Amino acid sequence: MEIAVIGTGYVGLVTGAGLADFGNDVICCDIDPAKIDALNNGLIPIYEPGLDKIVERNVHEKRLRFSIDLAEAIRHCRAIFIAVGTPPKANGAADLRYVEDVARTIAQHMNGPKLVITKSTVPIGTGRLIERILDESGNGHKGSVVSNPEFLREGSAIEDFLKPDRVVIGASDKESIALMKEIYAPLHSLEIPFVVTNVESSELIKYAANGFLATKISFINEVAVMCELLGANVQDVARGMGLDSRIGPKFLQAGPGFGGSCFPKDTSAVADIARQYGYEFEIIEAVLRVNKNIKQRMVGKVVDAIGDVRGKTVAILGLAFKPETDDMRDSPTIPLIKGLQEKGAVIRAYDPGAIENSKKIFENVIYCGDAYETADGADALVIATEWNEFRALKLERIKKLLKQPLIIDLRNVYDPQRMKAEGFTYISVGRSEDIRVRERV
Ligand code: UGA
Repeated sequence: MEIAVIGTGYVGLVTGAGLADFGNDVICCDIDPAKIDALNNGLIPIYEPGLDKIVERNVHEKRLRFSIDLAEAIRHCRAIFIAVGTPPKANGAADLRYVEDVARTIAQHMNGPKLVITKSTVPIGTGRLIERILDESGNGHKGSVVSNPEFLREGSAIEDFLKPDRVVIGASDKESIALMKEIYAPLHSLEIPFVVTNVESSELIKYAANGFLATKISFINEVAVMCELLGANVQDVARGMGLDSRIGPKFLQAGPGFGGSCFPKDTSAVADIARQYGYEFEIIEAVLRVNKNIKQRMVGKVVDAIGDVRGKTVAILGLAFKPETDDMRDSPTIPLIKGLQEKGAVIRAYDPGAIENSKKIFENVIYCGDAYETADGADALVIATEWNEFRALKLERIKKLLKQPLIIDLRNVYDPQRMKAEGFTYISVGRSEDIRVRERV
């Protein structure tokens, strides 16, 4: 099928390349000529493993092209995916300005029936809003609106797109559902489950899924606090919980709090949507509070370990909100580094992918070329993001480089017994071996 994907950000680009890989003819559009120029010259503006190859293959096989001509793409294509940003406004609500602009552009250039699909995470009710815009500003042609949320994870987006756990389709007529199934035909034959429902349910599925996953993380992060207080081990507790098939082992990794472009934004947006309808989504409100506290708690963890940090040098390994991405949005390292700087610490830092982006966020951070340069002369080493290269550090060398053998591991990458045997003071998250059992509170 001929498909236009509007917006060549993260979601748009992965969706466009993935849909082309399924055999569709795809035009990825953006209003930013520099972006489109770059893409036409084979330059991928985001860091995502495997994306360059899939783009290259589909461009080469002529199923994928890039254009700034939205009008032409709209006229040419039967299906139009909206994949523009929905950034949070100051009150946490999603800003729909770009979605509305695209809907108006589609309305203006429709030259036949169009399937208009929202791929961006949009507040419940957006599908109906787009329908109204198409009806009111349209030129008599019919636009059917479908919600088809994406569930990609940064760092494994290509695999998530090509082999998703499920495809969610929210539509109100049979023809739209049939067209969506045609677009995703290869997944249908792989027996990937399709959840077909109405537009509102589909929009809510995305928020509910992210809200639930964020809840799981905040839950285990609070269990980790309990472990520290009681002398338990959060990894054992998580394993013991996760082996219950009703709970499942995933997303029970305690750490410095969740970040990224999705969980923080989507949880505050769903809380805001609930409030608009006069309801307080209490669990989500608590998740947001817990996440903020957990992030702040990491500053305390480092300060407790070092003592007064004024004038002390802290080496931070990992800046991105998770490995395999250059994304710094809402990264737990932001409150961590800023909190330590406020207390007078000097920060040295290294990340395999996110240094450029973090330069826009931090001042006075000394950026280094690898883990060893970062550790050189520091009073403590903090593992903040679990990139693979930090899982296999040459510990003897790190020990020699540090002023004192102190490692604070916010991702529980290393085994506390081993670290002790290697001569380190090793502090991690929610593991009793390394923390004094505090007095009962
Ligand atoms: C998340 C969802 O996992 C995707 O399904 C969804 O499509 C995406 O949001 C979105 O809405 O676009 P992503 O933000 O890329 O994907 O990253 P995750 O791998 O989910 O991690 C999010 C945060 O949670 C990271 O800061 C990570 O370190 C943290 N996390 C994750 C934990 O602290 N513990 C865990 O057990 C898992």
